[in-house]
Amino acid sequence: MAQTQSLQFAELPHPAPVTAEQRAALLRNPGFGRVFTDHMVTVRYHESQGWHDAKIEPRGPIPMDPAAAVLHYAQEIFEGLKAYRTANGGATLFRPEENARRFQQSAERLAMPVLPEPVFLEAVDKLVSIDRDWIPDGDGSLYIRPFMFANETFLGVKPSSEYLFIVIASSVGAYFKTDAPAVSVWVSPDYTRAAPGGTGAAKCGGNYAASLVAQAEATKHGCDQVVFLDAVERRWIEELGGMNIFFVFDDGSMSTPPLGGTILPGITRASLLTLARDKGVSVREERYSIQQWKADAASGRLREAFACGTAAVVTPIGTVRSQDGEFRIGNGGSGAKTEELKAALVGIQRGQAADPHGWIHKVF
Ligand SMILES: Cc1ncc(COP(=O)(O)O)c(C=O)c1O
Repeated sequence: MAQTQSLQFAELPHPAPVTAEQRAALLRNPGFGRVFTDHMVTVRYHESQGWHDAKIEPRGPIPMDPAAAVLHYAQEIFEGLKAYRTANGGATLFRPEENARRFQQSAERLAMPVLPEPVFLEAVDKLVSIDRDWIPDGDGSLYIRPFMFANETFLGVKPSSEYLFIVIASSVGAYFKTDAPAVSVWVSPDYTRAAPGGTGAAKCGGNYAASLVAQAEATKHGCDQVVFLDAVERRWIEELGGMNIFFVFDDGSMSTPPLGGTILPGITRASLLTLARDKGVSVREERYSIQQWKADAASGRLREAFACGTAAVVTPIGTVRSQDGEFRIGNGGSGAKTEELKAALVGIQRGQAADPHGWIHKVF
């Protein structure tokens, strides 16, 4: 089926959207992922028709057959990006083309049809435009969740012939509830996130389903997040449950685990690599073992570590806990390089700093 590069979106505005007073109350302390906007975008795919029936409509439940393939074999992918309110009342997105491309790569890995980039971008723009009043002021943002799932009514194990692409949006504040200056991570002894040849580089729901037991273990041990080791040797740091990781050393250099199929190629990770190199910082994409992490934290060679991602932005890691005990990084709080990079990234994202790489996409 030839790919349609753009689609006509039918616009069906909500007949009874949330009132301004109700919305103001919801936006006062939205947390993360619980406050949703009035609308959603839906686009259907059928192998005989390609992409069709694009709509922006009131957000609501979606009827599904209990034999829909996704409910049985988890053929599902998603993305996550944020819209920011600008000082002049406009709205911007940060590198949404990268999300569109990663969505295509995830689709290929999950044997799903590839959504044309212009359709992805238009769907996101339309939702942000119609639900513009839901973008919080201050440090908040509108978290946008595009996703696609197998919708064929069929129990055979094969790629579905039908899919539904949906975009919803959620007004959000900070991802971590903690007031602590840095988060703590638990090194999972038993569970790995992704093996070579698996789906680690794809943003598919199954990866997250498999990570939940490890995240629950982290919580049980008093940690905010789980950090996964590689599946083969069980010694190389890969990433957190929903974030990439960076290390900062006493000589001013930095490192982050290399992409290689088992790690999600984070857009924040790629952006920080660029920003650090712009500042003349030497950054290596190289493997780093848990033993080395512990030794370097003890010797002082390692000064800072931080997690990064769309949801968490840049979050310092202060404590690492494992079955063998725990160690602290630096003073257990944030570090100068972490704060400098965070400020550089957030400044661009929020339109408060120049955008030398053309990363900002203006919605309106
Ligand atoms: C497993 C995982 N790693 C890394 C990231 C960071 O990716 P990005 O910076 O594109 O949000 C995410 C979040 O999307 C994630 O879920």
